[in-house]
Formats: sequence, structure tokens, C-alpha cells
Amino acid sequence: MTNTPAIPTSVLTLASEAQRVTVLTGAGMSAESGVPTFRDAQTGLWARYDATALATPEAWERDPALVWSWYMWRHHLVRQTEPNAGHKALGGWETTASVTVVTQNIDDLHERGGSSRVHHLHGSLFAFRCSRCSRPYTQPVDDTPPHDTPRKPPACDECAGPVRPGVVWFGEMLPNSPWEASVRAVQDCDLLLVVGTSSLVYPAAGLPRIAQDRGIPIVEVNTEETPLSTQCTACLRIPAASALPRLADMHVT
Ligand code: APR
Repeated sequence: MTNTPAIPTSVLTLASEAQRVTVLTGAGMSAESGVPTFRDAQTGLWARYDATALATPEAWERDPALVWSWYMWRHHLVRQTEPNAGHKALGGWETTASVTVVTQNIDDLHERGGSSRVHHLHGSLFAFRCSRCSRPYTQPVDDTPPHDTPRKPPACDECAGPVRPGVVWFGEMLPNSPWEASVRAVQDCDLLLVVGTSSLVYPAAGLPRIAQDRGIPIVEVNTEETPLSTQCTACLRIPAASALPRLADMHVT
């Protein structure tokens, strides 16, 4: 017996009939892989820090070694995790529909789950660049434990400036090309799934509005209600790793 609620037939029909599916994902997508969500209290080493306060240009200016160490901890953590059934379902869905993932996550679990079209709105944990001259830094980084002693970021090969994570911090602009590709993916789909995001952080949180204005059905997959919930065609209060295989399976005959 399972306690997971059933998915309404109307939603299963939307999923099975959609030829172009766009999936906007947030931290809840990777929660069941063991990656802590952003607004969860942090555990262990980082319990005394607020994640949303570490992911800022101000935190970097104040203490680059602290911020670097936090990213090295996350880098290490994500390398130990595996895509969950939700990531794999999105990858598998590509055999029967055109599926585009627009993610706020900086992990690589969508790619490892088999998705081939992934737009990273907030950058990647695995890309680094110089904080001074912006030159990409492609050398291996040391993410080995322990992570409790702040470690200095590496120096840029070109200008010796401190190397920073290639992610978008609060208050920073989103990279142009993934943003534009994401807008197109939302405009051009038959179904928008919004999975595991608090729908609080703009501009990503504004993407569903584009679909809504075009009359494109929006289905939210989130264990909790969000500010988007009332705008959706349907809301599934089911964890991503349970809901997505059931939605995608409709395509597998
Ligand atoms: N399945 C579905 N939804 C889940 C699950 C799950 N297993 N677990 C948690 N959730 C939901 C929560 O209810 C919450 O709404 O995922 C959401 C996670 O919210 P956040 O931690 O705020 O993550 P997100 O919305 O992705 O944050 C957006 O803000 O901090 C910045 O740049 C960072 O990309 C991040 C952005």
C-alpha cells in the first residue's frame, strides 16, 4: 500500500498528449537525491549559516574563503549523490516527447539523469571563473574534506585574481543565453511542469506567467503550496521522485 495521492486523470492526459514539455525545476527536484534545499535549515557544519546569506556578492567580498569552502562542500556533496527517479523520468521522457529542462539548480543531476536539453539559469557548481577578469578556470578544484576550515580560493592563471564559483548570486544578473533559451522553451511548450521550487526568486519565478498568458497548462509538483499554486491548472502535492515517473510513464507503451 502506498500513501502517495493519485494523479488526476486530467493531468495524466495532459502529460500523455503533450508533445513539447518544459520543466522548470528548483531545489526540491534534487532533495530526494540528498541535496539540501535552499530554504531548509542547513545541517552539520553549515548549520549556523543561512544559505541565502552565503550566496551573495557581499558574503564573497567579506569572506571569500568562507564562501569558497561552502561551495567546495556542496561540490563534494553533489559528486556523491545520484539522480533520483524524477531526474531519470525526465531523461527517459525524451524518447516520446520533446522535453526541455529549465533549472535553477546548480547541480548536474538532470544531465546525469539523461536530460539532453538543460538550461541552467543560476549557473553551475562545476564551472568557475576569475572574480576579477572573468576568465574561466578549468583546473581541478580541491573539494576534499574536511570543509570546516575556510580555504582560500585558487588564483586565476591570467591575473591571479581569486577564482569564484560560476553561479548566480542574489542580486546578480542571470546569464543571457540560458535566460533567452528558457523564455523560448516556456513560450513554445504544450505543458509547463513546475517542480520543487518555492516560486519566490525572480526572474525565474516569472517564467510561468509567460505560459499562463498564452493559455499553456501549468502543473505544479511540490510537496507544499507556493505563491504560484493558485495560478496553476493543477497542483500535485507529491514528491518529485514519485510524481515525475508517473507523468512520464504515460508516454511509455
Ligand atoms: N518534491 C517536490 N517539491 C519539493 C520536494 C520534493 N521532494 N522537497 C522540497 N520541495 C519543495 C519545497 O516545498 C519548496 O517549495 O521545493 C521547494 C524548494 O524551495 P527552495 O529551497 O527555496 O529552492 P528554490 O525555489 O529552487 O530556490 C530558488 O533561490 O536560493 C536561491 O539561487 C538559489 O536556485 C535557488 C533559488
